[in-house]
Amino acid sequence: MKQENMTIVSQKEIAPRIYELILSGKLVQEMKTPGQFLHVKVGDEAHVLRRPISIAKIDQNSQTCTLIYRTEGFGTKWFAALKAGGKLDVMGPLGNGYDLRFVKTGQKALVIGGGIGIPPMYELSRALTSRGVEVFQYLGFASKQDQFYLPEFRALGETYVSTDDGSDGMKGHVGQLIEKYPLEAEMVFACGNLNMLKALSDKFSEAPHAYFSLEARMACGVGACYGCTVAAASDPLHKNFRVCKDGPIFEMKEVEL
Ligand SMILES: Cc1cc2nc3c(=O)[nH]c(=O)nc-3n(C[C@H](O)[C@H](O)[C@H](O)COP(=O)(O)OP(=O)(O)OC[C@H]3O[C@@H](n4cnc5c(N)ncnc54)[C@H](O)[C@@H]3O)c2cc1C
Ligand code: FES
Repeated sequence: MKQENMTIVSQKEIAPRIYELILSGKLVQEMKTPGQFLHVKVGDEAHVLRRPISIAKIDQNSQTCTLIYRTEGFGTKWFAALKAGGKLDVMGPLGNGYDLRFVKTGQKALVIGGGIGIPPMYELSRALTSRGVEVFQYLGFASKQDQFYLPEFRALGETYVSTDDGSDGMKGHVGQLIEKYPLEAEMVFACGNLNMLKALSDKFSEAPHAYFSLEARMACGVGACYGCTVAAASDPLHKNFRVCKDGPIFEMKEVEL
C-alpha cells in the first residue's frame, strides 16, 4: 500500500450523480488484483476520514485507473467538483481483492452487480475474460437513466439487465434476474446492497467458489482501528473480520450478514 498525489486525467458525469474519474500515476503499477479499493482523501481539513472507492478499471499501458462513484455526502460531492489536470491524494491499493488463482480457461463465471456495487465488477470481468473465463453478467439498476457502462460490460460477455421500475430489461431486482436466466457456472461473484448479498449468499451457500464484496463504514482503511468489522459465520459472537483488511472480498459462506 502506498500513497500518491495522482493526476486527474478526466472526470465526467456518466449518469445522474454517477461520476467516472480517471487517474494516472505510478500507483497504478501496484494495482494487480480486481476488487481492491483506493482510500481517497477529501481535500478539506474538516473531513479527516478518507473515502473508500473501488477500482473499476486498471490500465497498465496508460498507467491509469478508473473510479466510478455516486455522490452521497460531503466527500463524494467534493470529488465531483474535481477537474482534469488537478491532483488527488489516494492511498492504496487496499483490501484483498479477488484471488483468481483457482480459475481455469474455459470455465464460466456469474458476475452479479447491483447499483453502485457494479463498478468493481467491471475490472473483475476484464480479469476473468483475460484468463479465458466466459462471463455472464447480471446487472441491476434503479432505472434506465441510472445505467452506466452497459456497452463496456456487453463487450466482455453476455449481459442481463434489470431495473426496479421496468424502464429497461426485466422489471425487478437482480436476484429475480438470476431466477429468470439461471445458468450453471464454476464460480459466482457479487457486489451490491446488503439485501441482495443476503439473498445471494443463501442461494449460493453450497457453491464451491462464491464470493462477494462487502461495504462497511471505514476509518483507517488498513486494519488498525477495527471500525469496519463484520461477524464470522463460524462464530458470530466471538470472531470478526475487518472489511478493509481481511476483505472487502469474502467467501459468501464465511460471513454472517
Ligand atoms: C470497500 C468499499 C468500496 C466502495 N466502492 C465504492 C464505489 O466504487 N463507488 C461508490 O460510489 N461508492 C463506493 N463505496 C461507498 C463510498 O465509500 C461512500 O459512498 C462514501 O464514503 C460516502 O462518502 P461521503 O462523504 O460522500 O458521504 P458521507 O455520508 O458524508 O460520509 C460519512 C462517513 O461515512 C462513510 N460512509 C458513508 N457511506 C458509506 C458506505 N456506503 N460505505 C462505507 N463508508 C461509508 C464515509 O467514508 C465517511 O466516513 C465503497 C465503500 C467501501 C467500503
Ligand atoms: S477501517 Fe480501520 S480496521 Fe477497517
